Amino acid sequence: MDTFDQSDGLREHLHSERALGKRVGFVPTMGGLHEGHLALVQHALSLTDTVVVSIFVNPLQFGANEDLDAYPRRLAADLTLLEEAGAHAVFTPSSDVMYPDGLAAQTKVLVPELTNVLCGASRPGHFDGVSTVVCKLFNMVAPDIAVFGQKDLQQLLIIRRMVADLALPIVVVGHPTTRDTDGLAMSSRNTYLDDVQRAIAPLLFQTLSEIATAVRDGSREYVALEKRALSTLEGAGFDPDYVEIRRPYDLAKATATDKEVAIFGAARLGETRLIDNVVVAAG
Ligand code: PAF
Repeated sequence: MDTFDQSDGLREHLHSERALGKRVGFVPTMGGLHEGHLALVQHALSLTDTVVVSIFVNPLQFGANEDLDAYPRRLAADLTLLEEAGAHAVFTPSSDVMYPDGLAAQTKVLVPELTNVLCGASRPGHFDGVSTVVCKLFNMVAPDIAVFGQKDLQQLLIIRRMVADLALPIVVVGHPTTRDTDGLAMSSRNTYLDDVQRAIAPLLFQTLSEIATAVRDGSREYVALEKRALSTLEGAGFDPDYVEIRRPYDLAKATATDKEVAIFGAARLGETRLIDNVVVAAG
């Protein structure tokens, strides 16, 4: 496995790989790797010939009071996991490599739609940081295919929209959420949870799944379902941010005629913000 911390070296390496006829797969990450990331790598390996993983905790997507400093940084362990998973190259740029003139001077890529609801509403500027860094990484790696987890479904839709609007020649592939045996979606932030919080955490997925069951069984009382879920989460000790039933392709509020809906949830347990979603055919 080759590692690069400068984009020039990475570009040269990938140029040689492409000259051999290899197709490049890309999995962008912020490190703190878990089985969910490794599933994305496996998927990229099944679709392409050479797989690049980036590890960069992107300061541009964190708000002033968020967990940029606390975010798990375990580079040595991450590299071992990626080597074992069969990744071919890892790109570990510093902030100076990604933002040589600083964050304030950085040209931004803004996706005007899809960013003002759900996590975009509670984390202003977050998705501007995501789209900007992913666009830069796409330009550095120039992958044929990039794989993103569906746990961050809003992020996936925003990246797809950016790729379409900027005519980037990249296929964006979504991969299903990897879950612990009790249903909790894997996330680097799960490491923040203490034992009590970890025991409560799967209730987020259970609550969204209960709504999914009701919708599958024919309920269209979306507002009532959302309200009930919020009070279930509150009762269990969460500080819920939102539970919303929306269309899984444009994030508009779901209506009774939609054939498929996504149930999105975000809630805090102590300082830890968890998100999840369940997509369901409306029966
Ligand atoms: O999903 C993430 O880990 C990040 O938002 C991403 C896509 C790597 C951009 O920093």
